[in-house]
Amino acid sequence: MERLQKIIANSGYCSRRKAEELILNGKVKVNGEVINTLGSKASYADTIIINGVTLKLEPKEYVLLYKPRGVVSSVHDDKGRKTVVDIVESENRLYPVGRLDYDTSGLLLLTNDGELTNLLIHPSHEVEKVYLVKIDDIVNPSLVKSLSNGVVIDGKKTGKARVKIKKIDKKKKSSLIELTIYEGRNHQVKKMFEAIGYKVSKLKREKFAGLTLDGLKSGEYRHLNIKEVKTLYAVAKN
Ligand code: URA
Repeated sequence: MERLQKIIANSGYCSRRKAEELILNGKVKVNGEVINTLGSKASYADTIIINGVTLKLEPKEYVLLYKPRGVVSSVHDDKGRKTVVDIVESENRLYPVGRLDYDTSGLLLLTNDGELTNLLIHPSHEVEKVYLVKIDDIVNPSLVKSLSNGVVIDGKKTGKARVKIKKIDKKKKSSLIELTIYEGRNHQVKKMFEAIGYKVSKLKREKFAGLTLDGLKSGEYRHLNIKEVKTLYAVAKN
């Protein structure tokens, strides 16, 4: 048994707040009975009807995608560009866990488990994200300290970060830097580099919450196993 608003939100129908509103407005029926107070519990086996429509309680699905560049991290794009849900074949309504920019490649999770999504993207849970950053320039090693100390983006200082220079190619005038962060602010990596005078030319997320891209090529995906899902819950809750 779980709180009714939680079951509704977990189904992907809407947010928990919106579900509470629907309940209080008398729009939700459980097994034929209108429930309009917030304390009620229900089970996934119950028939839940919202505004006359039966809620589809989908089995939980967890996908790890190696997102290619040139794909949008959402379920729909107004400009008609390819989205991550166009790549992943599923009968369920999967949503990306957070976002990668259109021109960023790498590890992106997709799931219909709203609870896990919320845990993973909540800033206070500080989930680890590892990025590989290419700069078309020879970077000054002092950037390690600057980025680790935090830089101001959008008026707020960034949190803890680990920075490693992986390669400096003097001939090609390019550098590869590994950046590990625990926040997920909008365009965070690009803005962090911009704040210290570098433009990111390529960006790839190599790790997310301990998961890696091992065994996958760009555009490929795989399902997580139960052990991995349990670990994700543990990582997100810590
Ligand atoms: N930071 C960015 O700037 N872009 C991404 O896609 C992810 C992190």
